[in-house]
Formats: sequence, C-alpha cells, structure tokens
Amino acid sequence: MARVVITGRIPAEAVTKLREQHDVDAWPDDQTIPRGVMLQKVAGADAVATLLTEQVDDEFLDAAGDQLKIVANVAVGYNNIDVPACQRRSVLVTNTPRVLTDATADTAFGLLLNVTRRFGEGERLVRSGASWQWGMFFLLGTGLQGKTLGIIGMGQIGVAMAKRAAAFGMRVVYTDDHALDAQLQRELGATQVGLSELLKSSDVITVHCPYLDSTHHLLSTEQFAAMKNTAFVVNSARGPIVDEEALVQALRDGQIAGAGLDVYENEPTVHPALREMQNVVLLPHLGSATIETRTAMAVLAADNINAVLAGGQPMTAVSQ
Ligand code: DGY
Repeated sequence: MARVVITGRIPAEAVTKLREQHDVDAWPDDQTIPRGVMLQKVAGADAVATLLTEQVDDEFLDAAGDQLKIVANVAVGYNNIDVPACQRRSVLVTNTPRVLTDATADTAFGLLLNVTRRFGEGERLVRSGASWQWGMFFLLGTGLQGKTLGIIGMGQIGVAMAKRAAAFGMRVVYTDDHALDAQLQRELGATQVGLSELLKSSDVITVHCPYLDSTHHLLSTEQFAAMKNTAFVVNSARGPIVDEEALVQALRDGQIAGAGLDVYENEPTVHPALREMQNVVLLPHLGSATIETRTAMAVLAADNINAVLAGGQPMTAVSQ
C-alpha cells in the first residue's frame, strides 16, 4: 500500500477516498502541524496533501525521500511550494483551481460591498451599543453603479469578479498578460488596459493575480499615488502582492479611500494600524471558506493523488 500523508485537517470525504486505497497518516488538528512533526511524518511518503500553511521546500523534499511522487496542495495558490525544487526531483505538484472560483469571488465582492458601503463601520457601531439615529448624511457610502472596477489578474477568479461587477452595473477594466477571448470580453463588457491606466481610472481595484517574484509589492507607494483619492483596494489573492506598509501610509494620507483585505503580508499577523482604521474591512483569509468549496478542494486533491499513485496523470498539475 502506498503511504499518503495529509498535513492538516481536511473534509472527511477526501480522507475516505484516500483511505480506501492507501495507508493514510492524517494530521487531525485545525492547528497548523509543527514543522518538525511534519518533516518526521512525511518520511517515506509516496504522496502528501498539503495546506497553504505548509512550506514545501528542499528540506521538506529531503525529509520525504526519493519515493515521493506528488504534493497535492489543497488551495489554488501554491506560493507555499517550491515548484522548481519539486520538478528537479520529478515530484508532481497539483493545486485546486475552478472549484473555489465562485466562493473566492463572492468573498472579494463581499469585501468590495462592505468597504464601499461602510457596512463594517455600521456593524461595529451597532454592536458597540453606542446610540445612533437614521440621518440623511449618516454613514454615507459610495455607490457602485456606473463606477469602474479594475481587476488585476483576469484568471478564473478575475472573470467571476467581472461577472459580479457587471450585475452591479459597473464597468470593468483589467490587466493580465493574456487578453480574454473576444466573445467573453464582450459579454463582460471588459476592456484590457495597462496597469497605469487601470490605477488611474478605477474606482475599485481588486487583486486576483498569483503571488510570484514579479507580483511582489505590485501595489506599493507609487501605485497608490496613481490611484484616485476616492478609490478602494480589495485584496483576496495573497498578502505580499500589496506592500502593507505603503497601503497604511496611503490610507493615512488619504491617497485612497479604503481597503478590503482577506490576506496579509505577514499572515496571520495584521499590521496594527489597519486594525485601527474604520475605512478598512478585515477578514481572516476566508476566500474559499464554504463547506461545499472546501470539500470540493479536498476531494480534488485526493483525486489527484489517487490518479498519480495509480500511474495516471493528475487533473490539475501546476507548472512554472
Ligand atoms: C487558495 O486556495 O489559494 C485560497 O487562498 C484558499 O482559501
């Protein structure tokens, strides 16, 4: 029997699929597995299912050994995995695209609505027990209809975000290395532009690109300075794509109007200044956090492992 290690608690359906065929060692806690324990457990594994909280690097691969065939990340983002190091050792890497597209776009759009309409502020006010009264000018937000959404990274989640924006009457501009298929672009009413055009024309800017060396601090001092003073920034991709220190400064200086964040540069630590700002909505990395989506992600990872251990090809291999 092949040996499969799961480095964090994942939905039971996926564990069952793996247990039917393999000898499975599953970390049972919601708390992240201690690095040292993980390195011991992966020794001799043929496959490992990892969460985005685990770093897969040369040390991990050395600890696992030459028999390792696949690392199946239970996430679409795989910046926690040194893909070239895996490739050098002929270890396949898979992720979980598509199954989390809607859930993640819902989270991003939720952040967008929350920050532009000041729902977080309103909720905190009511919860605090402070007195309040309806008023013509009380907690006025910014409407979305006729405004421009700038999407950085037009992959599946970016497209799902554009569909939501169209339903809310927003115009869409986007940046990506690749243009959308012309028909889809027409359906979405989306226009491809350069980053500087997107920064200056958007009322809300939302980040959906992968985190790579080339996207580290893609939004920093210069980019915030180029945005409208009334613009909002949403990030539900990966924290370090946004320079958090520069974001704090831009918010302090009134260079932008607000931010909605699901991810952080030094996750799970959140810049203390952000926690003090009323015009910032903060979520604890809930992008794909629905029962249905997390189940589908884990099952896809299990299916990838089963396919590879049976000598076949995985459904969703990543390449770099
Ligand atoms: C992912 O899959 O990359 C998400 O960040 C998980 O919520």
